Amino acid sequence: MAKLKSKYVCQNCGYETAGYLGKCPECGSWASFVEEINTPAKKDEVFSGVLETLPPMKLNEIEMNSEIRMSTNISEFDRVLGGGIVLGSLVLIAGDPGIGKSTILLQTSGELCKNNKKVFYVSAEESASQIKLRAERLGVKSDSLYIYPQTNLELIKKHIEDLKPDLVIIDSIQAVYTSQIQSSAGSVSQIRECTNSLMQIAKSQNVSIIVIGHVTKEGNIAGPKVLEHMVDTVIQFEGDKYKTYRILRSIKNRFGNTSEVGIFEMNSNGLSEVINPSELFLKEYNQTQTPGSTIIVTSEGTRPLLVEIQALVGTTPYPAPRRVANGVDTGRVLQILAVLEKRIGLNLSKQDVYVNVIGGIDVNEPAADLGIALAIVTCVRDVVFDSHTAIIGEIGLSGEIRAVNHIEKRINEAQKLGFKKIIIPEANDVQEEFKDIKIIKVKKIIEAINRGIIKCNN
Ligand SMILES: Nc1ncnc2c1ncn2[C@@H]1O[C@H](COP(=O)(O)OP(=O)(O)O)[C@@H](O)[C@H]1O
Ligand SMILES: [Mg+2]
Ligand SMILES: [Zn+2]
Repeated sequence: MAKLKSKYVCQNCGYETAGYLGKCPECGSWASFVEEINTPAKKDEVFSGVLETLPPMKLNEIEMNSEIRMSTNISEFDRVLGGGIVLGSLVLIAGDPGIGKSTILLQTSGELCKNNKKVFYVSAEESASQIKLRAERLGVKSDSLYIYPQTNLELIKKHIEDLKPDLVIIDSIQAVYTSQIQSSAGSVSQIRECTNSLMQIAKSQNVSIIVIGHVTKEGNIAGPKVLEHMVDTVIQFEGDKYKTYRILRSIKNRFGNTSEVGIFEMNSNGLSEVINPSELFLKEYNQTQTPGSTIIVTSEGTRPLLVEIQALVGTTPYPAPRRVANGVDTGRVLQILAVLEKRIGLNLSKQDVYVNVIGGIDVNEPAADLGIALAIVTCVRDVVFDSHTAIIGEIGLSGEIRAVNHIEKRINEAQKLGFKKIIIPEANDVQEEFKDIKIIKVKKIIEAINRGIIKCNN
């Protein structure tokens, strides 16, 4: 028998070395290496039996069989998936512990069973009675939902073959192991091997599989990036654990549009869809105006969302001022500050600056720039911004306001929520007519400031 050797594997990206390293040369994580037993690779086992049956084909001889999708009956979830679960696909749902992954999949199982689908729910973390308890609370009842508390992949495989379910759920991939290799459950090698195996089952038996993956505190899918590359679809489950809403975001999809989001509210009987998300995010928005607060229209996927941005600026007690950004990229905020200093002469060199997106949502698009800038300016000058005016616009380095995408959808959303005015980039061409909202086009930051600030507090 070959001598077993060990190797060190980065638990974040899967990089392997013979000796321990403090920092991963591949992904830059610190202290991410763990010793694992080296099992000789079983060459080319992956996908065999699937790909081998397909000879090379000429493009124009390939028949289009549009993929068959299974609706989950939860329209927000379907949208994120690109229109339902594709037959024979492997989907990863990743998120923090406690965010609601098991909840949404148990609810989905219940819905699918209503449509006479057979669902095989492998619970590698919780006992059957724990699942039962949750099912009772969520009101999930079904006689075609099979719960299987098991961590051994070989046994799971056997039951998939016997049961022939329409959907398999693995809760979670970090807790299952294959006896083919000797590393412990949750290690990169185990996760890679188990995922490969599941992919093979999905493709060869044409069964859809959803795996749950936990996210580490750095926000990576715990062991690891390799998982993301292997599956067909990656859906991130986000949200503030202390708030009730949750966001499902597609970050990779071989069968649909990425950047789609689905929004849910978590309560004691489970997750319910949020039909009008902007209302949720503006629930606490204070119509009595305060300095440093603005409303922007961000676009999550193809869907517009109104969110409040708050800024706080104050003289710093430290030698170097602090810049803290929550929900927006710090680099982006630094750039906006630089533009404000240079182009409108705002002196921020001795000021701490805090920027926060209310509601715990992340806004990762440049179209939020102008709203952030105006929040900062109103706070510095202690004036308020008209609370009935929404703001859209990217800021260029010379202080110009640049065009953004989906402009009409954004304007429409602001109008729907009762905003009276909206500041948009001059460069955007608006084709549609809007009756109930006044569109203000601006070319420079300074124009936006002049048009939106309505009163001085002092
Ligand atoms: N009895 C309950 N009443 C209300 N909400 C609950 C209850 N039990 C759990 N929850 C909610 O469900 C969440 C856990 O969901 P779960 O699906 O188990 O998360 P995950 O599988 O992502 O770890 C908790 O954070 C809490 O918000
Ligand atoms: Mg869980
Ligand atoms: Zn690494």
